[in-house]
Amino acid sequence: MTSFPPDEELNAAASPRALRALIESRRAVRRFLPEPVPEEVIRDCLEMAVLAPSSCNLQPWSFQVVREPALLARLHPVCMGQNAARAPLLIAVLARPDTWKQACTNVVAYWPEPEVPKRIRHFYAKTAPFQYNQGPLGLLGLFKRQLVRLAALRRPLMRKPNSRADMRIWAVKSTALAAENLMLAFQSHGYASCPMEGFDEVRLRRVLDIPRQAVPIMLLAVGRQGERGVYNPRLRFPLDQHVTWL
Ligand SMILES: Cc1cc2nc3c(=O)[nH]c(=O)nc-3n(C[C@H](O)[C@H](O)[C@H](O)COP(=O)(O)O)c2cc1C
Repeated sequence: MTSFPPDEELNAAASPRALRALIESRRAVRRFLPEPVPEEVIRDCLEMAVLAPSSCNLQPWSFQVVREPALLARLHPVCMGQNAARAPLLIAVLARPDTWKQACTNVVAYWPEPEVPKRIRHFYAKTAPFQYNQGPLGLLGLFKRQLVRLAALRRPLMRKPNSRADMRIWAVKSTALAAENLMLAFQSHGYASCPMEGFDEVRLRRVLDIPRQAVPIMLLAVGRQGERGVYNPRLRFPLDQHVTWL
């Protein structure tokens, strides 16, 4: 049995009140019921996750969906035994600074119109590779940094990414947006979640087959909320501490 809401509710979800209700209802949940999450729900949520915006639409993310009990049992100690990691579903959310080249090809291959516009072909054949290719050992990035510094004396230029570290930040930004979409999507289906960065990355890589350059940004625990699943009342600092109006 899956729990897709009726169409009227889906339309209502476009309203600010409904969106606020969804966002407010999401909490970090650390105790789950053992009930599995249906595959249809997981798929639907992943589809919503990848509707997140991404830099140059290069979609630098990947997800490993862990449902196998034996694998979940091995991941629990990797997450240092934390309660949230006892969920019936864990999703490893990976930022992929290493997939931009294939993604440039994919944009053209999957272009949703019969004709790929010339400016799109040019951008993904020339501009994007120039921006994202850092060369062996990041040496091309080093060269680009100097080049951009000079060229930017004359006009405003985007100065990053031009190192491997920049590429990791580049991929993490877009992937974090997808992760938030994913949590809200599960919430909309009535499943709670907890994002976890409390894990041992070295041990995680021994349990899951994670590509060397991928950055595991979080393990997302998902399931039906269990009793006393939320530990604390919601706490947010006053908005004015974080916002500057200019
Ligand atoms: C990047 C990130 C990492 C987190 N890691 C953990 C974690 O390892 N374990 C945990 O129990 N909660 C973790 N959390 C959940 C936060 O503690 C929680 O979101 C925060 O306390 C606010 O609570 P709320 O989400 O219920 O509003 C993490 C959240 C984020 C965004």
